[in-house]
Amino acid sequence: MKGIILAGGRGSRLFPLTITTSKQLLPVYNKPMIYYPLSLLMLAGIREVLIITMPEDAPSYQKLLSDGKSWGMRFSYAEQEHPRGLADAFLVGSNFVGNEPVCLILGDNIFFGHGLSEQLEAAAQLNSGALIFAYAVRDPERYGVVDFDERGVALSIEEKPIKPSSNYAVPGLYFYDGSVVERARNLEPSSRGELEITDLNKSYLESRELRVEVIGRGVAWLDAGTHESLLQASNFVQTIEERQGLMISSPEEIAFRAGYITRDELRILAHGLGDTSYAKYLSALLDEPQVPFWRGPADPE
Ligand code: DAU
Repeated sequence: MKGIILAGGRGSRLFPLTITTSKQLLPVYNKPMIYYPLSLLMLAGIREVLIITMPEDAPSYQKLLSDGKSWGMRFSYAEQEHPRGLADAFLVGSNFVGNEPVCLILGDNIFFGHGLSEQLEAAAQLNSGALIFAYAVRDPERYGVVDFDERGVALSIEEKPIKPSSNYAVPGLYFYDGSVVERARNLEPSSRGELEITDLNKSYLESRELRVEVIGRGVAWLDAGTHESLLQASNFVQTIEERQGLMISSPEEIAFRAGYITRDELRILAHGLGDTSYAKYLSALLDEPQVPFWRGPADPE
């Protein structure tokens, strides 16, 4: 499966922070915001990723992430001139996606918690229909809202409803089959002039191909789109990292533990980060066994 990170938009809710830089490059504690959704794709086992940005921000993303080779990944880039909506990702990325299944993640969505990697790895096996997630929130009216039955069959999905039919918001993480580009081409702009992801999901709902999985309360889902939520996300990451001595969403660590890069390649990456706590963290991994911790402990011999 391929992946797309949508990292465009004007970030106007974060002005003046985002007047000169893209929101998804802002720091969330000790790493750029985009590392979090990127790590999520890596944990799902997705290695070929398209990064969609505003044209003026493309050079910064390419400087930060280049072609992905040093992380055992393959990155390509596309530009979205105007924020025409989340489903526009499939028009901008139509050549990249072709007729293959794809996962879309929003560049400002942060997930962390138990069991998530296994859930994502399973989701990345999808090859027909669509899979979206449901996460209980206090303020569902701010999001896409989904209602579904006990088998995970979606009953309704609405974008920012005034009277939500459930308290389940749809996070910015979506898995689609190879018909997604064709479906996106058939969408009409909404009243706010955007190609809505909710309308794309409705197209799967109407053909009875939309499945919903709950992301449980043991997982944190944060977005970092306002001054308050950006600081909260940083504080959250710092609190967990300091307590555990383990980093949240370090792509270098994930690449190493998944066996995408060798110990020597990790050493070079650590060296390139200078005399920082991030570099020291990566260097300390050099002495550890190269196992994907998210798959649990290895069977005893
Ligand atoms: O965060 C999850 C929610 O994301 C979903 O529950 C909603 O159904 C979905 O519509 C979306 O709602 P938002 O109102 O939060 O979307 P927003 O317009 O803020 O865009 C989300 C991110 O995507 C934002 O970081 C900017 C980026 N973006 C947005 C648009 C419209 C783009 O890169 N290009 C775009 O055209």
